[in-house]
Amino acid sequence: MRILSGIQPTGRFHWGNYFGAIRQYIALQEDNEAYYFIANLHALTTVRDPEQLRQATLDSALDLLALGLDPEKATLFVQSDVPEVSELCWILMTGAPMGLLERCHAYKEKKAKGAPADAGLFTYPVLMAADILAYDANLVPVGEDQVQHIEVCRDLARSFNSHFGEVFVLPESHVLSESAKVPGTDGEKMSKSYRNTIELFEDPKSMRKKISRIATDSRPMDQPKDPESDHLYQLYSLFADTADREAMASTYRQGGFSYGMVKKTLADAADQFFAEARQRRAELANDPDRVHEILADGANRARRKAGEVLARAQQACGIRSL
Ligand code: ADP
Ligand code: TRP
Repeated sequence: MRILSGIQPTGRFHWGNYFGAIRQYIALQEDNEAYYFIANLHALTTVRDPEQLRQATLDSALDLLALGLDPEKATLFVQSDVPEVSELCWILMTGAPMGLLERCHAYKEKKAKGAPADAGLFTYPVLMAADILAYDANLVPVGEDQVQHIEVCRDLARSFNSHFGEVFVLPESHVLSESAKVPGTDGEKMSKSYRNTIELFEDPKSMRKKISRIATDSRPMDQPKDPESDHLYQLYSLFADTADREAMASTYRQGGFSYGMVKKTLADAADQFFAEARQRRAELANDPDRVHEILADGANRARRKAGEVLARAQQACGIRSL
């Protein structure tokens, strides 16, 4: 299988990103040809501060590598380092029906709120289609919210193929597991836009502070509680092994415990869970040349593949000689 996914450098990664996406990327690098990129061109539709974008791009690479993305197994690169994708994007833009893009949710929601949208946001799904088609990807692991964009990609590929001949591989989306809808500190879905995140490599003190502020109910301590419906327990479950998880569940069912104890146990478990990655991240951060080398090597490999596909598309539509 050829796997591909992108993640936007719009802020520091949080627990939701790890358990919902990054962990799966890392698992999929094992038996597949995997391409993962930092989607800085997409981020440009929201991040308009150049220093912030540069820093977030580097931070994203450090985070992914520290968490176990292995450049020997997967190709890791920065989206804008592969200009072939932007060329392919233009080709796909011709022939992309306006109506199809008008139905896409990122643009539709912004417009519904009366906010001004730019052409970058409107054509965002076409760039995403180019990202996917440029590598002949078969499988695209994404969160539920991105499935619509994969459908657009399939539509564009199908229509190009039927007009110009079989050029593109039709990708399938692979929706990342349901159980991984990580709640935030307020119990809603953890998301940067809700300001309820706990970052992966947050300073340990500030992480504990955020955990201590996780919303809990005010029922008396001795009352038994249902673990499954409690987001503090759900968060703890992400880090605990089966035995610890069951022990915590039975504590909930018995009652007579404090949420303070659960929060401390959660903070200790999270600390331990990310300790090794934190250490690796610190080492990598001290060796930026190594990180740039990994990204440059990734970009070379990615360009080789994207160049082949672009040439195929250019020949098929008559902008390159046969
Ligand atoms: P955010 O909502 O914080 O802006 P993104 O939309 O950039 O996060 O998400 C990047 C990836 O992380 C996507 O694949 C998305 O499905 C996944 N993800 C984000 N938040 C969560 C969450 N709370 N639970 C599970 N997966 C998540
Ligand atoms: N739009 C995706 C997101 O916000 C990121 C992305 C860009 C992507 N290009 C992609 C994901 C190609 C999968 C395939 O999460």
